Amino acid sequence: MKTKELTNTIKALFAGDKGLLAMDESIPTCNKRFEEAGIPQTIEYRRAYRELIVTAPNLGKHISGAILFDETIHQSTKDGILFIDMLKKQGIVPGIKVDEGTTDLAGFPGEKITMGLDGLKERLANYYNMGARFAKWRAVINISPVLPSRGCIEANMHALARYAALCQEAGIVPIVEPEVLMDGPHDLKKCFDVTIRVQHVLFDQLFAQNVNLKWVILKPNMVLPGLSNPKPASVDKVAEATVTCLLQSVPAAVPGVAFLSGGQSAEAATAHLNAMHVKFKGKLPWALTFSFARAIQQPALEIWKGKDENVAEAQKILVHRASLDNAARRGEYNPEMEHDLNA
Ligand code: 13P
Repeated sequence: MKTKELTNTIKALFAGDKGLLAMDESIPTCNKRFEEAGIPQTIEYRRAYRELIVTAPNLGKHISGAILFDETIHQSTKDGILFIDMLKKQGIVPGIKVDEGTTDLAGFPGEKITMGLDGLKERLANYYNMGARFAKWRAVINISPVLPSRGCIEANMHALARYAALCQEAGIVPIVEPEVLMDGPHDLKKCFDVTIRVQHVLFDQLFAQNVNLKWVILKPNMVLPGLSNPKPASVDKVAEATVTCLLQSVPAAVPGVAFLSGGQSAEAATAHLNAMHVKFKGKLPWALTFSFARAIQQPALEIWKGKDENVAEAQKILVHRASLDNAARRGEYNPEMEHDLNA
């Protein structure tokens, strides 16, 4: 096993106050975001958008790793520099999403299973040769009055553990992402109960599959009320519930936890991460950082609108957002910083 490589990747990803940028939207998801922002949904617009991101000046000051999608890892800037090389130039470790999306889970109406284990060993070897040093696999768990089922949780966490074992064997650090979705009217307590249950099964499966936790990154949801729950939770309450849930389920051997944003606004995701650091400073056994997609990209995407003349402004907003998440990782974010583009 490439143990030195795995250790170096973990060190690089958790250096300083940096975090991760997920820019691994599948083609349908990227097209959906483009459609909402009035941007044409073509391969060239997707390439141009990813070029905007990887060439954003100073992105590497705030971002330690970026997760790419298969289409993107093969693409280059208009000057012919592979995106993967552009990221390395910025001091950013390239990563790759390797799951193949979700499909209905047979026998469990309303639930999903993530695909992609077949042929994964060979795909990982190829990605390693291209320069990817970490990977991501996302499982989704729905909440309803009767969900999630035991069958769905076990099937998905087993797949995550099989994927993680294959990654480590290939010299690639696995990000394991068991995302409990925000959709629905459930309250914060329900999200807490489901998240802790899912994570217990995940770590049991990782143990069963001989995955070494010192080379694993957990990418969890924050503990939040459902999107259609009329009663919002305070920033402090979310921070408290989220860290309490993690402390009760994530072994200290795990080097780092990097949150997804899951449909929260960029400001809310940053404020929640900040409050966790303010409240639990010095009391966390793992690094606690971000691996946001929408909460970093969305404001920039809306400014870009697919137009060349907006690229510089969009890049500025993107890097500003990442810098606010850096501040949150130190517990030094303040909403007033939102308006100071030089912060
Ligand atoms: P969001 O931050 O938009 O939830 O995306 C994170 C991610 O990588 C989902 O797999």
